[in-house]
Amino acid sequence: MKYSDQTRIASLWTPKESIVLHPGDCLRFLKGIPDGTLQLIVTSPPYNIGKAYEKRLKLDNYLTQQAAIIAECVRCLAPSGSICWQVGNYVDNGAIVPLDTILYPIFSSLGLKMRNRIIWHFEHGLHCKNRFSGRYETLCWYTKSDRYVFNLDPVRVPQKYPGKRHFKGPKAGQYSSNPLGKNPGDLWVIPNVKSNHVEKTSHPCQYPVELIERLVLSLANEGDWVFDPFLGVGSTIIAAIRHGRRGAGCELVRDYVSVARRRIEDQLSGRLKTRPMNKPVYDPAAAGNSLSISPWASPQSTGQLTLLEPKKRYVAR
Ligand SMILES: C[S@@+](CC[C@H](N)C(=O)[O-])C[C@H]1O[C@@H](n2cnc3c(N)ncnc32)[C@H](O)[C@@H]1O
Repeated sequence: MKYSDQTRIASLWTPKESIVLHPGDCLRFLKGIPDGTLQLIVTSPPYNIGKAYEKRLKLDNYLTQQAAIIAECVRCLAPSGSICWQVGNYVDNGAIVPLDTILYPIFSSLGLKMRNRIIWHFEHGLHCKNRFSGRYETLCWYTKSDRYVFNLDPVRVPQKYPGKRHFKGPKAGQYSSNPLGKNPGDLWVIPNVKSNHVEKTSHPCQYPVELIERLVLSLANEGDWVFDPFLGVGSTIIAAIRHGRRGAGCELVRDYVSVARRRIEDQLSGRLKTRPMNKPVYDPAAAGNSLSISPWASPQSTGQLTLLEPKKRYVAR
């Protein structure tokens, strides 16, 4: 599937389109999609935590609303297709409710099978005072059947010991690792989109394009439809069209639709900047960033462990 800056961005779905940015409600949009059309549905739904774009509902009402959308998604999903629901926690008066756990029965009652519960770990976020700060969310991958698309090779990551060889048996002396790299596993360390991230827009809860590129490459083939019911500023469509898949998504908030359109146009013309897949996470100490040296460390030690020394007054130098 080839794209150019002339490719049309439609607002309604027809089988002839390749990019659909729908400014409206996803449930109504899904009603117009024929059964079995979408190969990959990937999204991060509202978490019902009172963000600018959502009205906080009673948990039961939230689950009923999610169940209706998930059921439509399953109807529209191709037999070889996958749904990836990326969620964090709903917070009720300081108590956390893990959304993946309470949504699981909805997916399983619709006959979907969970293939991975991927932990997406990142380092930035709110600093909690009464519990440990949350530094991961989950990405639950479900398939509609046992015969699902899974392309591992395009998403392999570098081996830890590529020079390792078999030391005994018929393959003794031969390299033991796959030259294409290893399976990325189910713990993905990818920076979240905070203020100095290259992809940051006005949306408070964008996910990074690289997170979705990995899913697009492994769970859909070229030309397949990738759909996001809660599109935000278009990250899923960008990941899809970047790899020659078709992309569709719905968004209720007009400002986010405009940002999504601009980002998709930038992607089509090759101007969109995103954090590259598999780029190592920035390590300030290794990069020699002076802010990584603690100001209260003694001249003999540069480590922050001095904080643990008893009866010491910590004075910045
Ligand atoms: C967590 S955000 C998704 C952000 C997105 N992953 C990105 O990278 O930009 C959820 C989005 O769903 C939108 N939304 C909520 N209910 C919707 C509905 N019924 N139909 C379409 N969009 C909806 C919200 O306005 C919000 O932008």
